[in-house]
Parts: sequence; structure tokens; C-alpha cells
Amino acid sequence: MKHENNWVEKAKKNAALEAVKHVEDNCVIGLGSGSTIAYAVEELGKKIKLENLRVKAVPTSYQTLMLAVRYGIPTTILDENPRLDLTIDGADQIDEALNLIKGMGGALAREKIVASASETLIIIADERKKAKILGENSQPVPIEVLPFAVSHVTLKIKALGGKPQIREGAGKVGPVVTDNGNFIIDAYFGLIKNPAELERKIKAIPGVVETGLFVGMTDIVYLGKHYKVEKLERKK
Ligand code: 5RP
Repeated sequence: MKHENNWVEKAKKNAALEAVKHVEDNCVIGLGSGSTIAYAVEELGKKIKLENLRVKAVPTSYQTLMLAVRYGIPTTILDENPRLDLTIDGADQIDEALNLIKGMGGALAREKIVASASETLIIIADERKKAKILGENSQPVPIEVLPFAVSHVTLKIKALGGKPQIREGAGKVGPVVTDNGNFIIDAYFGLIKNPAELERKIKAIPGVVETGLFVGMTDIVYLGKHYKVEKLERKK
């Protein structure tokens, strides 16, 4: 197990190093959330200092904001910079068309907003995240929901054939509350043959703030493997 963790952490870090090479002087970037992104934030902080870069970042969570502050990365907000040059983010599952499931860290809504605001979306992950079809290995789709609507959305998810579970957190009793003050439903759909259609149907439910299905958004994936990083690019 320890051995496994070693290569996974190296793979995450190596993928992060490749992504940070895309950051140039005067870039405004989005920074996702999670354990892989933590490596990218640290590396970006070093790069900004070493190369004296004027870079600003929009963090997608309190986790990333605090890391950005720790590593000396100037932060900004979308109201000041509504167009971003690139976003670097992690993922929970990546299919062959580079569609994603995201949100096991609970930051999916802000992550999708910065991805949509960006010229280029770069995803970094270790190779365990690669899947033939989204939903493999009982991977749920995280859905951010207004607390007022949680029971209503639960019923609608069941009607779509999903098995919804309200996410409960460590360190607190009751539902996880996102950085936006909402709840997360983890919805199990089995194999998702048509992610675009499922995304449309879930988004149409009143009370759904955002889903963790990122369809057709990714430009580049750096996939950390045992001894190398594989670069995958979306076919345009
Ligand atoms: C957070 C996310 C993360 O990018 C995703 O959960 C991957 O996290 P990690 O790098 O820790 O595996 O979507 O909302």
C-alpha cells in the first residue's frame, strides 16, 4: 500500500510539473482544487518567484486560496478578470474523449466556471483516473444542490435511473456544505454511455447548481504514470 502511494504521489507531482510549464508572464489562470492541484500550486509559486512572473490566479476553493497565499501566488476574482488564459485542475475520472467526472473534493461548481472562462483547460491526474467509460468502478457523479431543493433533486435523480446519496463529511455531522453553502449529492448511474445527455438532464432539474460532468471542455490531460507523464490532447 505504501509502495502504491509513493508512485501515485510522484505521478501526481510529475503531471503537475508539466502543466505549470504552460504558465507564462502576464497569464491569468484558474486553479482547481484537490491533492494533485496542491503540487501544481507549490510549483507555480516557485516558478513565479524564480522567473519573476506577473501571474494572477483565481482559486476555486478555500483550500486552493490558502495554498496560493502560502506559496506567494497573487490571487484575483472573476469580476476583475472574467477571461482566463488557462485553468489547471484535477479530475476523478477521465474517459477516452477527455470528458471528466469531477467534484469528489466538492469544488465542482467553481471549477466548471473557471474552466468555462478559460482559453485552455489542462487536467492533471495519475493514471488511476483514466477510464474507458465514465461511471466505471462505481464512480458517482457529484452534483451540487441548493439545500432547499435536496429532497426534490433526490427524487428526480432516481427518476433518471441514478442512485443518489447525500454526501456526509468528516469533521462534522450531517451533510457536507460546499464553499458556496450548498449540499452535494453523489449520484451513481453505472456506466454513462452518453455523458452530454446525462449532463443536460441533470442540469435541467430545478435546484441543481452544477454537475461534476465536464463534457467537451478539456484541451490537454497530463497523466502521471509509473515512470513517465503521458500527454493526451482533445481531438478538435
Ligand atoms: C475537486 C475535484 C478534484 O479535482 C478531484 O476530486 C481530484 O482530486 P485529487 O487530485 O485529490 O484526486 O474535482 O472538486
